[in-house]
Amino acid sequence: MRPFTYYSPTKLIFGLDCIKDQLCTELKRVGATKVLLTYGGGSIKRTGLYDKVQAELKAAGCQVFELGGIEPNPRVTSVDKGAAICKENGVDLVLAVGGGSTMDASKAICAAACYDGAAWDLVLDSSKINKALPLFTINTIAATGSEYDSAGVITNLDTKEKLPIGSPLLWPVVSFLDPSLTYSVPTNQTVAGSCDIISHFCETYFVRRLSPIAQGLIEAALKTVIKYTPVAMAEPENYEARSKLLWTSTLGCNGFAALGNDPSAWPCHGIEHEVSAYYDITHGIGLAIITPRLLRYFLEKDQGLMPRYVDFATNVMELKREDFGSDAELAEAGMVKLEEFYRSIGVPENLSTFGITDEYFEAMGKHIDSHWMAPLKAFVVPFEVSDVVEVLKRCL
Ligand code: NZQ
Ligand code: ZN
Repeated sequence: MRPFTYYSPTKLIFGLDCIKDQLCTELKRVGATKVLLTYGGGSIKRTGLYDKVQAELKAAGCQVFELGGIEPNPRVTSVDKGAAICKENGVDLVLAVGGGSTMDASKAICAAACYDGAAWDLVLDSSKINKALPLFTINTIAATGSEYDSAGVITNLDTKEKLPIGSPLLWPVVSFLDPSLTYSVPTNQTVAGSCDIISHFCETYFVRRLSPIAQGLIEAALKTVIKYTPVAMAEPENYEARSKLLWTSTLGCNGFAALGNDPSAWPCHGIEHEVSAYYDITHGIGLAIITPRLLRYFLEKDQGLMPRYVDFATNVMELKREDFGSDAELAEAGMVKLEEFYRSIGVPENLSTFGITDEYFEAMGKHIDSHWMAPLKAFVVPFEVSDVVEVLKRCL
């Protein structure tokens, strides 16, 4: 196993109605007095969650400022707006209520509120983050794991860039996980969230060496998502399904499953963020389209990865080794079964469904080269601009 250092200072509070009284208690515990409440396009008002949160804030004696309307693929303009509210009013805590977009934007707000300059500076160079406001999150969708990691992803429409911001200062202080808050997630977003979870674990899994703990965790996580996504789609208020998806998503993005493994550069995410930056598509859907193509491409380039594909096919997709003439056939059958799963939950098969052509693929590849390629080059197989273009072409 490889050496590692791991520190995840987020208090997780999980369960039905878990914000009740506990949000107030936690706000008092950390001494919050002026809170910026952030949320997205309005789902929290439709579900009644907004009123419950306001009641807790009131009980804790907090003065509340608000930033609503945070977009999916959150814009840096929203981050600047939120940071300005914090600076003008002396806000001392940000409370993000929503999905990954709201939580990500809120992390950037926490950092930008303590920085003398534009928020985008901190996205381009997160080492400039020396201080950040404390963040609480109430996650409303099983997807990104942003509630339990120290990074966010911010979009700049002017420069057509979607880039990560990250710092150990951006771990949420407390995250509330109530599976019932995800009952109202529409089917398409449930699907996109599950595809995101699958990608997070695949990014970590397809390396040569995995610790046994990681292997068991990832395979269990993937099987959980494959089993419970159709259940949550058919029965949106099935607590068991929603709770299993939510907890699995929480563990997907914070590096825990990567401890002791060979490092991964998260190439699927690097590529998908380029596509989102140009075409504003839903993150999880972009990942699902790219994943099987990218995984096949890796194997073409590096047969040394074959044992991982065999494990995936047998342990996750539940195929039998004896039914196949060779490892290569088994590996391919695993990929086909993954594609069948995506199809069965309604994921479009090609990027062209969204009007995407190869027009910007070269530009996307070059952009990854400047922002993401260093780790990619050290990844399982050396990855160049031409590889990115080739994978994207296979997704059309
Ligand atoms: O905006 P509202 O009205 O709240 O509606 C949202 C939005 O339209 C809706 N939604 C969320 N919870 C709901 C709900 N609707 C009804 N009931 C609920 N309970 O779902 C839509 C999508 O929300 P969003 O926050 O965009 O989804 P998600 O959680 O998938 O976040 C995606 C963003 O996170 C980034 C992605 O790139 C993307 O920008 N990521 C963040 C990561 C991180 N911080 O670690 C890692 C991920 O890999 C990812 O890159
Ligand atoms: Zn993701």
